[in-house]
Amino acid sequence: MHKSHNCGEIRSAHEGQPVTLAGWVNRRRDHGGVTFVDLRDRSGVVQVVFNPDNSPQAHQEAVPLRNEWVIQVRGVVNLRPKGMENLNLPTGEIEVEVSDLKILNPANTPPFPINKEEEVDEQIRLRYRYMDLRHERMARNIALRHRIVKFIRDYLDRQGFLEIETPILFKTTPEGARDYLVPSRVHPGEFYALPQSPQQLKQLLMVAGMERYFQIARCFRDEDQRGDRQPEFTQLDLEMSFVEREDIMSLTEDMFTKLVADLLPDKRLLASPWPRLTYRESMERFGKDNPDLRFGMELQDISDLAPGSGFKVFEEVIERGGHVRGINASGLGDYSRKQIDELVEFVSQFDAKGLAYLAITSEGEQRSSFAKFLPAERAEEILSRMAAKPGDLLLFVADQPEVVFESLGRLRVMLADRMALRDPEVLAFCWIIDFPFVVWNEAEKRWDPSHHLFTSPMPEDVPFLDSDPAKARGQQYDMVVNDYEVGGGSIRIHNRELQEKVFTLIGLDPEVAAERFGHMLEAFEFGTPPHGGIAPGIDRLCMVLAGEPNIREVIAFPKNQAARDVMADAPSMVEDNQLRELHLRVVD
Ligand code: AMO
Ligand code: AMP
Repeated sequence: MHKSHNCGEIRSAHEGQPVTLAGWVNRRRDHGGVTFVDLRDRSGVVQVVFNPDNSPQAHQEAVPLRNEWVIQVRGVVNLRPKGMENLNLPTGEIEVEVSDLKILNPANTPPFPINKEEEVDEQIRLRYRYMDLRHERMARNIALRHRIVKFIRDYLDRQGFLEIETPILFKTTPEGARDYLVPSRVHPGEFYALPQSPQQLKQLLMVAGMERYFQIARCFRDEDQRGDRQPEFTQLDLEMSFVEREDIMSLTEDMFTKLVADLLPDKRLLASPWPRLTYRESMERFGKDNPDLRFGMELQDISDLAPGSGFKVFEEVIERGGHVRGINASGLGDYSRKQIDELVEFVSQFDAKGLAYLAITSEGEQRSSFAKFLPAERAEEILSRMAAKPGDLLLFVADQPEVVFESLGRLRVMLADRMALRDPEVLAFCWIIDFPFVVWNEAEKRWDPSHHLFTSPMPEDVPFLDSDPAKARGQQYDMVVNDYEVGGGSIRIHNRELQEKVFTLIGLDPEVAAERFGHMLEAFEFGTPPHGGIAPGIDRLCMVLAGEPNIREVIAFPKNQAARDVMADAPSMVEDNQLRELHLRVVD
């Protein structure tokens, strides 16, 4: 080893001891002829001192040292002189008096400072990711991720789970995104698909009698990038046999509740047991199926007060089968016209055609874009439905339900951010259950599975598959925390007949079904146990637990927003002979 101790672990108890340290020059200062270097390794920073009176040679050799040079020093631990201690640093009581210096490797000037956190363009951070990861915050995130995954592995091992790897070169998995394809050299014109999840394989492991499986599984989905999505990401994929919905939910809940208590004792769970909301309740109260429960400002339905109100916008929407719903942004009643216009602009991104408002200033004076059309008693009813009081700002959207929910659901979260209502120390885990089994795809004129096509309908709702599919509920559950869907799972179909019925319902051609999923249908006839599972997204969970705004901050080498690795510059062109070998030609 090039070192006897880690920089960050030296304390006053080491006083007088000789040590050998190695690391990076975090900062260098010269004071009255003495050179001070903050030496950094993964464990932290320690001050090392080059004093010309004690070791003229080491002091001379330290002259060229610059930030990020890699050095090794030998010396003795001393207490810092009285008054020179740095209480902000764990090693701040001591310093190392250097007798020998060895330069292990010089470094170019870093593309951005490492010794302080400052805003740096993300493309540059990604281009020099190995430098970016030297930042304390990033190193902390990577270490937290390690501890999270280790906790999960240990927990599931204690519960009798086996960790089993499944292939990356596989066949299309229907999770709703586009596949990444890999051409086969040995089978001209044929392709593997990278798994969007190990869904089919984990079910087949249940057929195989494994009973309790998990995997820290890499998944690949070619879909539009967002802050909480990456083209390749990691799931804790798990599956169990002989279980019901309740079993999977309680195991998952227990695991993550203990994980938070163990690894993040400063975070507080909003509620334990985690609240459970039906899909419908979540939509009606929060406008989304991944609600943030840390604050109120819930949606209120005033559709029944719209007909005969005299306000055409509301009346016409109701006539066309739409809804009128609103939120009470309590505390924003003194917003100016301009500030309200910005909110109108905000909801227009989600196709809302307007945002009707009724503001009550802190003095109790009312301003409104629509109250003038309403008879006084109707206005009163709306105020009372919205529990309005001085200082409140009521905001309404009238439209088809999807638009109303999305625009108010997003507006609610945006305003809560402005009012600092989203306490970063609180984790509001919850479950969303009773999803519709299928959703109508108007463009394609067919039913789509609302989860994936192996999810089982509620047993009592199976008759609806023939009579009224919209009424059937799926045995699906989503795990949500603080406005993010962090996991999804379901009880699966485990017999061929029901699986084929679902294929037919969603309009999957029997030949295509046989070609794509014949192996699943076949397996269902060889003694398949009832089974179900879940897949929490590790990246999203780490992001929320680390308090980061996007998942790139908890992934060592993420792709950028354009699905590109800007460090290695991938994807990239390949040689013509490679293409020929793969029987491919690039056309544009
Ligand atoms: P689902 O598609 O809901 O379910 O995915 C489960 C969880 O994976 C995470 N996730 C992502 N994270 C980052 N980037 C992405 N592009 C991305 N896509 C999904 C989310 C999500 O909740 N096979 C089923 C699970 C099952 O039924 O057991 C599945 O993959 O946190
Ligand atoms: P207008 O009649 O277009 O002047 O609109 C009057 C008020 O109703 C304005 O505050 C608009 O923002 C609002 N408004 C218009 N369309 C809608 C809608 N679909 N939902 C809610 N408010 C609307």
